[in-house]
Amino acid sequence: MANTQNQGFLGRMLARKSVAQVQRESDTSQLKRSLGPWNLVFLGIGCIIGAGIFVRTGNAAALHAGPAVLVSFLVAGAVCALAGLCYAELSSTLPVSGSAYTYSYTTIGEFAAWSMGALLLLEYGLAASVVAVGWGGYVVSLLGDYGIKVPIELTGPFGHTIMRDGQPLLDAAGMPMTYLFNLPAFLICLALAALLVIGVSESAKVNNVIVAIKTSVIIAFILIVGWYVIQHYDALKVNWQPFIPEPTGEKGEFGWGGILRAASIVFFAYIGFEAVSTAGQEAKNPKRDMPIGIIGSLVVCTLLYILVSIVMTMVVNYKLLNVPDPVAVAVDALGPDWAWFAKIVKAGAIIGLTSVILVLMYGQTRIFYTMARDGLLPRVFANIHSKFKTPWINTILVGIITAVAAGFFDINTLGDMTSVGTLAAFGIVCIAVMWLRRTHPNLPRGFRVPLYPVLPILGIIACFALIFTVENRVLLFFLWYLLGSIALYFVYGMRNSQLAKGEPPLDGPDLPEFKEDAAPPR
Ligand code: ALA
Repeated sequence: MANTQNQGFLGRMLARKSVAQVQRESDTSQLKRSLGPWNLVFLGIGCIIGAGIFVRTGNAAALHAGPAVLVSFLVAGAVCALAGLCYAELSSTLPVSGSAYTYSYTTIGEFAAWSMGALLLLEYGLAASVVAVGWGGYVVSLLGDYGIKVPIELTGPFGHTIMRDGQPLLDAAGMPMTYLFNLPAFLICLALAALLVIGVSESAKVNNVIVAIKTSVIIAFILIVGWYVIQHYDALKVNWQPFIPEPTGEKGEFGWGGILRAASIVFFAYIGFEAVSTAGQEAKNPKRDMPIGIIGSLVVCTLLYILVSIVMTMVVNYKLLNVPDPVAVAVDALGPDWAWFAKIVKAGAIIGLTSVILVLMYGQTRIFYTMARDGLLPRVFANIHSKFKTPWINTILVGIITAVAAGFFDINTLGDMTSVGTLAAFGIVCIAVMWLRRTHPNLPRGFRVPLYPVLPILGIIACFALIFTVENRVLLFFLWYLLGSIALYFVYGMRNSQLAKGEPPLDGPDLPEFKEDAAPPR
C-alpha cells in the first residue's frame, strides 16, 4: 500500500491504490467469465437507450441542428467510440469490476479519483434526473390520452414560463403562467429510491424484457413512420429543405456550429455504453469480445438513432419537435388512425425510461458507497441497512438529490450538465490509459487501444472540444461545481482518506452486483 503520510500536498494528491490492493479489495473470483460478444452488445444497448433518443433528440433538432441532427449522432457516436476503446483497455488491464473512479485511483491518483467521483455524480445522479423529467413528459402525455389531466403547473421546472404553440400561456388575469415544479419527475425518483432501499434491483430476466420492449418500440417506430414517409415522400420532402438550416448568428444555433452543439446534446443518448467495459472481468474472451461489445452496441445504437432522427425530422418539421415527447409527436403526425400506436410508443418509453433511471441511481449509490469506504465521503454513505442489506442512507440521499434536480430544473440545463460532466470523465479515462502505459508499460493488457497514442489523444481533444459547444451559462455552472468539489477535497477528502492514513478501506460488505446480463456492476 502506498504510504503517503509524509508526502507533501502533491504527493498526497497523486497517491495511488496499487493494482494489488485493488485486487484484494474486490473479490473478483466470484465473477464468472460467462459473457460472450452478444451478451455484451445487449448489456450495452440496455443501458444506452433512454431519454436521449426518446426526449433530447427533439430539442437538438428543433433548436440546434434541424434535420442534420443525424450528423450530430454520428459525431457523438465517434467520440464515444474513442472513449469506449480506452475504457476497454483499462477494464482488461486492471483486474477490478471497475468504474472510472477506481481506474483513476489506480492510475492517476487520489485527486483524479475524487474529481472523477464529482463528475460521475453528474453522469449518474444528474442523468437520472434528466431521464426522470423525460419519464414525466411521457407519463403526462399518456395520462392525457386517457382524459387524466395533471395540473399543468405541476409538470415543469420552477419559474419557467408555460408555453403553448410557441406562445406563453396566460392565466385568468392575462398574466403569463409559470411552472411550480415537476411533480411526476420528482415522485418517480423518490419511488425508485425506495425500491432500491428495499433491495429491488432488476433481475436479469426483467432487464431482458425491458430491453426487448424498448428496442421493439424503437424499431416499430422506424418501420411504421418510415413506411409512411416513403408513401408521402413528395409532400414531406420539404421538411428536409434545407437539410442544414442557416445559422442564426447565435452560438450553436444551426449551421455546422449547431450540428456540433446538437452533438453535445445527443451525446447523452450514448451514456451507459461504458457499462460494457465494466463487465471486463466477466467476458469470456476480453481481448476479442470487449471491443465487439463496446463498438457493437455503439454501432447498433448509432444506426437506430440515425434512422429515428431521419423519420422523425421527415414526418414532422424539426421546428415542432421541442416538446417533452417528440417520438409521440412524430407518431401523431400519421393521423388519428395511428393513435393506438402513439399510446404504445408512450407506454414503451415509460417502461424503458424507468429501468434507465433505476440503473443510473443504482450506479450512483455504489460510487458513493465505494468513496465512503475509501474515507473520501462520510462513513454514513457506507452504512448498510440491517434488514435490507442496502446502503440505505446513501440511497435516500441520492433519491432526494435526483428528485429535487428533476423537480425544479429544466431538462436542457440538466442534460447539458450531464453531457459536460460525462465528457470530462471520458477525457480523464483517455488520459488514464496513457498514464498507465507510461507508468506500467509491462502490465498484461487483455485489450490494447489500436493506433496508440493517436486514438486516446483524439479522444481527449474530441471530449474537450464538445464540452465547449454548450452554453456559456452551463460552462460557468460546471466550473463552479468543479471548483466547489475541489475545495471539498482539500477540506474533507484529503484529510479523511484511508489511503492517506495508510489504512485499508473501511469494513463493509461487497454489495451484490447486478447479474451478468442485467445492469452493470459499477
Ligand atoms: N443514454 C441514456 C439515455 O439516453 C442515459 O437515457
